[in-house]
Amino acid sequence: MKIDLKKIIFFSMATIIFILIRQQSHFTEPNYKNIEIISYNLVNKHGYSVEILNLGGIISSIKTPDRSGVFKDITLGFTSPKQYLDEHPYFGAIVGRFANRIANGKFELEGKEYILAQNNGPNHLHGGALGFDNVYWEVDTLENKNGIQLSYISADGEEGYPGNLSVTVTYILTDDNTLKVKYEAQTDKTTVINLTQHSYFNLSGDFSKQILDHELQLFADSYLPVDNTQIPTGSIQLVADSPFDFRARKEIGKDIDIKNNQLEIGKGYDHCWVLNNTKKDLVKAASVYHPQSGRMMDVYTDQPGIQLYTGNFLDDTLPSKTQGTYGPRSAFCLETQHFPNSPNVSDFPTTILKPGEIFTSETHFKFSVN
Ligand code: GLA
Repeated sequence: MKIDLKKIIFFSMATIIFILIRQQSHFTEPNYKNIEIISYNLVNKHGYSVEILNLGGIISSIKTPDRSGVFKDITLGFTSPKQYLDEHPYFGAIVGRFANRIANGKFELEGKEYILAQNNGPNHLHGGALGFDNVYWEVDTLENKNGIQLSYISADGEEGYPGNLSVTVTYILTDDNTLKVKYEAQTDKTTVINLTQHSYFNLSGDFSKQILDHELQLFADSYLPVDNTQIPTGSIQLVADSPFDFRARKEIGKDIDIKNNQLEIGKGYDHCWVLNNTKKDLVKAASVYHPQSGRMMDVYTDQPGIQLYTGNFLDDTLPSKTQGTYGPRSAFCLETQHFPNSPNVSDFPTTILKPGEIFTSETHFKFSVN
């Protein structure tokens, strides 16, 4: 057999070049754990402050005074930013590309089926395995220094979603003690979008206490009942005569342990309320009052829904910022958003974003003392 030296040399060189390119691309893959986590602190003229990380756009602290002027951190999270690199239940994070659940991790858009991570039982939750809560955002300080703008480009196909999506989230802390969160996004292919802020609040500032004594009012006449896997059944249920009625201010704990199939599924409240806001204006959606400290928080949004989650799955495994661990119901979340599973329910307000359109949404958290 004749040995073709030229061919052998050619194939050996090609193999070496291929290995080198592979290694090169391996080394240039982003190693998130090595990017520096930077924290930004917004302080207003009354001393209210909000701390935000470039990792996940996480709000790592919000400090507000009680009625005697004592400032305390009222959001769950960790003392060291590095702890947010380990798994945690979306503490303070920006959640996307699609907040909340998508049934069976699938949806159809313009005749094509998209498959997403099933990271919550059979369902897709909060954007998947590496959602917006996990990525590093580029941060710019606003000109008048009262806020920051975070930007992120979610690549076409990231977590299974179509289209390069460019997203900005702006956090502004005003001198009237309001934290404004503004979202904007554009895509180059038709996609779905649902963005929220996943802060966990305990207005007492003492995380060893449960939030059942906080008084809540929700400006919603109905809510979305869910199936056993926490996907909305599709029906819109009036809250009247049910534990879901927060139309008048009521303690969160008042009805939370009532025998009720919906409360059993969520181990408490973990449902989306349908806001009485048909015009898409920025309106008051919720109001929370902690009688002992006097701290109050009003939530305004232009979104159609708000998910009340009462920290039911916190299980004393994560270390608290103060002392001990975070237990069940040691915080509540009020996640302003579109309805869960919207991409699969044509009756729900649309979450489709097309090229050329600009997605905008805004939520305000206004803090006060009463
Ligand atoms: C959301 C969900 C909850 C839970 C938390 C994170 O609010 O609705 O079921 O997954 O996030 O733990």
